[in-house]
Amino acid sequence: MNTISDLTSPSVFIGKQGNGIISFGSGQPDLPPPENVLNKFKVRSDLRYGLIQGEEILRDRLSEEYTASNVNNFVITNGASEALDLIFRAMEDGKVLVPRPYYYSYPFILKRTGMEPIYTDLNKGRIDLADFKKKIGDCKAILINSPSNPTGRIESLETLKEIERITEELGVYIVSDEVYKDIIYERENYLIQGDQVITVNSFSKTYAMCGVRVGYLWSADQGFVNKVINLKTHTSMNTSLVGQDMAIEAMKAPRSYIDKQLKIWRKRRDLIYKGLKDIGLDLWKPEGAFYVFPRIEKPRQFVWKLYQDYNVITYLGEWFGSPQRVRLSYALKREEIEEGLNRIEDCLENMK
Ligand SMILES: Cc1ncc(COP(=O)(O)O)c(C=O)c1O
Repeated sequence: MNTISDLTSPSVFIGKQGNGIISFGSGQPDLPPPENVLNKFKVRSDLRYGLIQGEEILRDRLSEEYTASNVNNFVITNGASEALDLIFRAMEDGKVLVPRPYYYSYPFILKRTGMEPIYTDLNKGRIDLADFKKKIGDCKAILINSPSNPTGRIESLETLKEIERITEELGVYIVSDEVYKDIIYERENYLIQGDQVITVNSFSKTYAMCGVRVGYLWSADQGFVNKVINLKTHTSMNTSLVGQDMAIEAMKAPRSYIDKQLKIWRKRRDLIYKGLKDIGLDLWKPEGAFYVFPRIEKPRQFVWKLYQDYNVITYLGEWFGSPQRVRLSYALKREEIEEGLNRIEDCLENMK
């Protein structure tokens, strides 16, 4: 990167590390995967093509986590990313209501799959039901992400239930991206339900296995599931069998694995939230996931200077549809968060 105009997308920072860089950029857990995945895992000897829909044992294990479900409701995919891509290609056309700020890949995926994103701006980091009601009638689907990347906010139970009710009445799909469902600080996750619901999830965040590329979608609509299987048959075919075996192993980890990680995330959340508040920034308290999304004056200059002069990576809010903010991931050790906060304070001081 030579000039500030090179700040075009997160790809300018993805994978940048070493040389004392502190990266609040990357949205992947730095914590270890479950011990049994690392210690007990043996690569299978049968490496022929697998079922396009995914290994039955994995789907069976997943069906225990979803009410009134069985193996037919799932398709195992190359991460949540492929699930999202397949879902919208299966829908073929129509408008999708997207709460903004959004995960930066949503508009890209929607446009490339032939869908048209339309936006509803969040109010204090949460869905504005009045605006949702105005726009949803025109749409084929709404794409929800709670806990949210980048806001770290969760939707209230009342809002989720109201969205369930209205979409069911109108026959509109809810695509619920729940990749952060196990990293939630304020309450238990609420699994959105109904025939119109398509749930997306992944082993990337809960089990710290981003690179293994295993995720899935759930739907009660068998016709929709079959459409997705047909698309996958002619594109990526089965998801890696080795990856699926690792996912099966990960699901054997005791609940204490997730609880232990959650405690660490919460401590980091408290540290970075207080640190940024003390510096004087305006931000929402994260209720889930591992991101903070403060408001910043001159965000482009800030992200550029912080990187060039202080060796700290942050992501521009404009990549997430919110140009007045920057996103920081706190998937970092305590000492790195503290050092990063010091450098941010110095940088802001220097920009005055
Ligand atoms: C909201 C959201 N959805 C989907 C993904 C993609 O996850 P996966 O690694 O399972 O493809 C991410 C990754 O950061 C994300 O933040």
